Amino acid sequence: MPIDAFHSEAYHGRISLVRLGADDLPALVAFERQANDDAWSEALLEAALRGEGYAVWGARSAEDSALWAVAILAYLPFDAELQSICVLPDARRQGLAREMLGWIMRCARTQGAEHLLLELRASNVAARKLYESVGFEVDGQRRGYYRREDGRSEDALLMSRALA
Ligand SMILES: CC(C)(COP(=O)(O)OP(=O)(O)OC[C@H]1O[C@@H](n2cnc3c(N)ncnc32)[C@H](O)[C@@H]1OP(=O)(O)O)[C@@H](O)C(=O)NCCC(=O)NCCS
Repeated sequence: MPIDAFHSEAYHGRISLVRLGADDLPALVAFERQANDDAWSEALLEAALRGEGYAVWGARSAEDSALWAVAILAYLPFDAELQSICVLPDARRQGLAREMLGWIMRCARTQGAEHLLLELRASNVAARKLYESVGFEVDGQRRGYYRREDGRSEDALLMSRALA
């Protein structure tokens, strides 16, 4: 299966995973503003949609094509990095992020990536539990890497998972 094909079995048939392209920028910007507390800027989203080293995946409702979740993957020389994954608040805790991660890991492996890397805020318990539930382990941290809304800093956790 080509890696930009619809994955029509995902999410009990109510959702299709599809690789987003430049035409999806307005919908992607709107999704980020609605769903992501750490929303990417329009310029960064456009660079990811157009960049050769990126794949942007959207989970679209089969009913009306609305975006329910988005994941952004960057390809490195030997590995891949999950730079963002976000699910609409109303669609959380139904297995959608885990489903997307499974698909993304298969795509990254198909592209030759040996590991999937990511980083997250140390306080992001939901994300950490999600990643641990699909086999990621913490292998480092960056002290004071993130800025919090109250102006204080927060550590980043580095996690990875072998794809072989
Ligand atoms: C983190 C996030 C992507 C999870 O998406 P989701 O679709 O709700 O996750 P899933 O339903 O697939 O959950 C899979 C597992 O993750 C863990 N998990 C997810 N949300 C959780 C929460 N709020 N609290 C505790 N564990 C949680 C659980 O282990 C869950 O398995 P279970 O439901 O069988 O217990 C979502 O909360 C989100 O979009 N958050 C805002 C953006 C964000 O923080 N992204 C990560 C940046 S690093």
